Amino acid sequence: MKHIPFFAGLLFLIVNSSCIKKNERAGVPADENEIVFGEYGSMTGSESTFGTSTHKGIMMAVEEANKKGGVKGKQIRVISYDTQGKSDEAVTVVTRLITQDKVHLVLGEVASSRSIAAAPVAQQYKVPMISPSSTNPKVTQIGDYIFRVCFIDPFQGSVMAKFAINNLNLKKAAIFRDIKSDYSVGLANFFTEDFKKMGGQVVLDVAYSGGDVDFKSQLTKIKEGKPDIIFVPGYYTEVGIIAVQARELGLKATLLGGDGWDSDKLSEIGQSAILGAYFSNHYSAEDKSPIVQNFVTQYKAKYGEVPNSLAAQGYDAALIAMDAINRSADLNPKNLRDAIASTKNFQGVTGIISINEDRNAVKPAVVLKVEAGSKHTYVTTINPG
Ligand code: PHE
Repeated sequence: MKHIPFFAGLLFLIVNSSCIKKNERAGVPADENEIVFGEYGSMTGSESTFGTSTHKGIMMAVEEANKKGGVKGKQIRVISYDTQGKSDEAVTVVTRLITQDKVHLVLGEVASSRSIAAAPVAQQYKVPMISPSSTNPKVTQIGDYIFRVCFIDPFQGSVMAKFAINNLNLKKAAIFRDIKSDYSVGLANFFTEDFKKMGGQVVLDVAYSGGDVDFKSQLTKIKEGKPDIIFVPGYYTEVGIIAVQARELGLKATLLGGDGWDSDKLSEIGQSAILGAYFSNHYSAEDKSPIVQNFVTQYKAKYGEVPNSLAAQGYDAALIAMDAINRSADLNPKNLRDAIASTKNFQGVTGIISINEDRNAVKPAVVLKVEAGSKHTYVTTINPG
């Protein structure tokens, strides 16, 4: 027992020094032989896998490019900061990336609420920001320097409404939304709108707050409404707990959700309660196309795990950034912005990416089924339009 504090201290030192090492030259502005990307993400907290998976994807893309000589003959350096899953921290670190580290471009965040909080900083300083996977429409509406390489939630909501009605033939839904999350509130609304339009019925719409651990009173109400499905557009930590408590209360309805479910932790937390649930996502690692399979192979070799969609979106966001820099006359922020805005038919791992006039990407979505062993099995692809 006596040794535990020592080991804990040692572990802290190791973890800490590796963080420092990663950002060794944070605060050192780019010299003329390099290009600096600033990344902000939830590396810790209840959405820690969002940040860590995205980071792995970004680093893989950057390291591959650096090995081939970099972009415009310059090496790319990435400075990464942890938002701890907090909006105020997102604002702080993006301000630091721009004003102290003087990054050329910002990559992040994953969660829409944090992108919405920090994007005004990037817009104010006119430094281009690309979110890999924030799907709420408001993110890119913040200004003309704010982009994303993913689809948006009006589409994602329609995907799950279509899937429930056309594929599952289930028409009676309860909605269980996280009222603290822009993503969750938006996706709940978009799903409801389309589901009703298609003849579905929403029997109940109840709320929780991200960070909650006891959902029994809301789930009891949901049970009384006798829905066929419960749409839970939340993040994996709460969704896992909700699944467990729903089954404990004897709720048998099919659970449905969105991309916020994408984490190995979903099954770790949800165990058998989450099996058979479905969620929409940006890509499937089972996609047989050579570009996806090549990415999966490389990623597995590097990190020893199958890349989830956060990793794939992070990878694509970095690729889009580097492609734009290549096409831009120079690193002037306005030119860089214009180059990102003119991205057309870029073949990414998550599909063909064209940035539209709203600075969003228009891409298909996949529906995945949660199966034993943390497996997210491919079910179908739903195209926009
Ligand atoms: N789309 C979610 C949001 O906007 C974030 C997310 C993307 C989570 C992809 C998981 C996978 O908040």
